[in-house]
Amino acid sequence: MSLVNTKKMLEQAFEDGYAVGAFNINNMEILQAVINSAQKNNSDVILQVSKSALLYAGPKYLKYMVQAATEETNINVALHLDHGPDFETVKLAIENGFTSVMFDGSQLEYKENIRQTKRVVEFAHEKDITVEAELGKLAGVEDEVNVSEKNAMYTDPDQAVDFVEKTGIDSLAVAIGTSHGAYKFKGEAKIDFDRLKLITQRLEEAGFKKFPIVLHGASSVEPECVEICNQYGGKLSNTKGVPNKILKEVAKLSVCKINMDTDLRLAMTAAIRKFFALNPEKFDPRGYLGEGRNLIEKIVDNKIKNVLGSVDSSKLQKVELM
Ligand code: G3H
Ligand code: 13P
Ligand code: ZN
Repeated sequence: MSLVNTKKMLEQAFEDGYAVGAFNINNMEILQAVINSAQKNNSDVILQVSKSALLYAGPKYLKYMVQAATEETNINVALHLDHGPDFETVKLAIENGFTSVMFDGSQLEYKENIRQTKRVVEFAHEKDITVEAELGKLAGVEDEVNVSEKNAMYTDPDQAVDFVEKTGIDSLAVAIGTSHGAYKFKGEAKIDFDRLKLITQRLEEAGFKKFPIVLHGASSVEPECVEICNQYGGKLSNTKGVPNKILKEVAKLSVCKINMDTDLRLAMTAAIRKFFALNPEKFDPRGYLGEGRNLIEKIVDNKIKNVLGSVDSSKLQKVELM
């Protein structure tokens, strides 16, 4: 099956109250694990690649690996640029068959973010490529967020409307309390649900009905994987992710795309650490990379089936081939 953009898959997700998983890939095993799981569950899926992953694997390798992985599938798969930092990277991704891009101008001054995002939208839409952009700043664990800091960092609902109006983007990544990596919260995990609801309400009032929201930094940092890492020589302490319960709730609301990378990295590392510790005499990479692939598939399976709710989403709608 050919790749599709994210337009219809996110619309359907909003309509039916689930979210599509966006999983970061950068090598063959991770890609296979994600695709196997999505195919098994008849689920739409977004394969996403960051700029550093593009540099690591090479755009051509990624392009043809994804082509190989999707040739035999009958699900909707989008290939998406994650956190595109500039126009050149967006262009490189599109030239290499990506069907969706994120331009991340969240660190730019607001007007400049609008200007650069709009340029990306004009370029991408001409080729039927969907565009995601970000407004607000994702906090890290070191950031103790009080109310005024929250207002400064988190996505402002009125500004979100202005941003969507002026840029013409297809989906909006918001800052509502999550952050990238394995250390997301010091104490209890807290997400600003009221802000999320208000963003969607303001968008609806402005005529953007059912506008897809994207949640970055959404790994749950599965304790099972952290424990395996630590049992076999790892040193990961005070890790904390977004609980699956919270992800389930936002998926029922306006969040239609949920981004996960850290969970896959931890699964791969846990499986490899364990394999090395238990098989010190073995040195065939297929042994340990295969174990990594198996554990990632298990983690992705659990997300699709028990958290995102996207099982059988590909059956609900067959998106036109690109
Ligand atoms: O949001 C960032 C993703 O986890 C990608 O990270 O730039 O290390 O590939 P990366
Ligand atoms: P995690 O670090 O929580 O996996 O977030 C990944 C992400 O947002 C990729 O864009
Ligand atoms: Zn992200």
